Amino acid sequence: MNRTHKLGELRISDQKKQVKLSGWVHKRRDHGGLIFVDLRDKTGLTQIVFDPEISKKAHEIAEEIRNEWVIQIQGNVRPRALGMENLQLKTGAIEVEAHQITILSKAKNPPFSINEEEIKVNEEVRLEYRYLDIRRGKILENMHLRHKAVKTMRDLLDEEGFCEIETPILGKSTPEGARDYLVPSRVHPGTFYALPQSPQQYKQLLMIAGLDRYFQVARCFRDEDLRADRQPEFTQLDIEMSFVDQEGVMQLVEKLIKQVFHKILNINFSEHFIRMSYQDAMEQYGCDRPDIRFDLRLHRVNDALKDSLFNVFSDALERGDVIKAICVPQGDRISRKDVDDYNLFVQKFGLGGLPIARFQQGLLQTGIAKFLTSQNQELLKSKLQLSEGDLVLFGVGNVDRVNQAFDHLRRDLAKKLNLVDPNHFKFLWVVDFPLFVQDTDGSITSAHHPFTAPLDEDLHLLHSNPLHVRAKAYDIVLNGYEIGGGSIRIHDSHLQKNIFSLLQLDEEAIDKKFGFFIDALSYGTPPHGGLALGIDRVVMLLLQTENIRDVIAFPKTQKASDLMNGCPSSVSFNQLEELHICVEDKFYKK
Ligand code: AMO
Repeated sequence: MNRTHKLGELRISDQKKQVKLSGWVHKRRDHGGLIFVDLRDKTGLTQIVFDPEISKKAHEIAEEIRNEWVIQIQGNVRPRALGMENLQLKTGAIEVEAHQITILSKAKNPPFSINEEEIKVNEEVRLEYRYLDIRRGKILENMHLRHKAVKTMRDLLDEEGFCEIETPILGKSTPEGARDYLVPSRVHPGTFYALPQSPQQYKQLLMIAGLDRYFQVARCFRDEDLRADRQPEFTQLDIEMSFVDQEGVMQLVEKLIKQVFHKILNINFSEHFIRMSYQDAMEQYGCDRPDIRFDLRLHRVNDALKDSLFNVFSDALERGDVIKAICVPQGDRISRKDVDDYNLFVQKFGLGGLPIARFQQGLLQTGIAKFLTSQNQELLKSKLQLSEGDLVLFGVGNVDRVNQAFDHLRRDLAKKLNLVDPNHFKFLWVVDFPLFVQDTDGSITSAHHPFTAPLDEDLHLLHSNPLHVRAKAYDIVLNGYEIGGGSIRIHDSHLQKNIFSLLQLDEEAIDKKFGFFIDALSYGTPPHGGLALGIDRVVMLLLQTENIRDVIAFPKTQKASDLMNGCPSSVSFNQLEELHICVEDKFYKK
């Protein structure tokens, strides 16, 4: 036994007890005669006193020890001297007088201070020494919260009759819209496994197998451009259910999320989560994961701007582009300099600029106001419900660009104007997604994945107007983040094949990639559907951090590397040879 108690446990009621304690030296203070050491483990700190009158030997050793050494002491618990109690500390009423000390492990001087959590340390250095960064406390706490959140999910799903199943990591590519990470096979030269972008096909196969209700805390791998809320490997709470409809899945997921927020943050949501169609989300917020904690909605004002004298507007209307407006109340909070900055900001998203006008004394004035007819003025006033002092910002151009620029502009304005309450959680279901989206080259791809079922009432449009077909798909959004997505699946093998051919896969390709799956669907498949929650993102939001790396023990950088162990890294020539892999000379590193 290395210890009788943990370091956050001892109280005044433990006085006179003989204890054995182990931990890291958090701080050492030498007061001439007496040496005080704050000893730390993950549960807290305990003050140890080395008194030469009690043990000369222990005191001598204590003179040598440094921060972050791992030591073990034996001694007696006693009350701290009157007035020396530390109310901030759970163990602040007592201290332990040491009779014996053993050094379990010495420590080099760490690259950053461990005992001063508040000190800002460059993230690259923190990632290089992640084990020390975790030891500092903040990330350790995050890991505990993550554990609790996942446990809550597991417990609830267990109660609801779900069965946790692990599916293969070495598998066949499932299309989720990103590039695959591939693993070469030694035994079958020239062939590759794909790491799962998600366990989508496996979980559907489990429904065909009769499992009825499945879940998995599933590692997923996607080789895609990284962002603050994206990692190349991340974790999903992956769920699939048989004999359900969209409503059934959504209700289960709502219950699960409410339970997590109740258990972790003690927040109770009694209302149903709001629902919004994809169409409305794009129109009013410019994106399919709107942050609805604040308003600043986008309004399409094409009709209100007919016959204006402003070339930018009239040219856009002629081209069939859109003009959208955001109305900022008390617009004088946005200075001319801010407007200039925002002008550059929207140009980064491909807009020509940012026309503005201010509503003063019942009229739009300044900026482009001089080009507006009185009818434009009247129509804008009623469409935007203008009030004295409003600032109106116009986005002009191709609808996708305007949406993208104004989505970002909206989020930025809200931050600048302090419109976001970080303690406020606003959930939203986005529904009625399109089944397909058009790529830049004109081809169509699945908006979610190709196993998503079309809405029954849109089936007749599948061949004549595929881009107008809506899907039985739903995303759950929290405070502007997509925290989960799912759908009701196609359970008819003919329809599934049909969808693949609409995605421009020929018979041979369908057979090669998905033959086994289509075959499986034809052996009696229950209607089924599910959803996957991004666990990392849920935990980020529970912790109110914007950095996904804060919730992952060993995360990768934006460039998908691990700064601690240096992966990805080169491998020996022999390893490559065994795998029958040849690396171009210019990339081969010894
Ligand atoms: P989807 O691709 O929408 O759906 O993923 C589900 C959720 O996973 C999270 N997520 C990510 N989190 C961190 N880093 C990433 N790179 C990343 N990519 C996705 C998001 C997202 O909402 N098989 C379907 C689910 C289904 O249909 O049941 C799927 O994977 O929070």
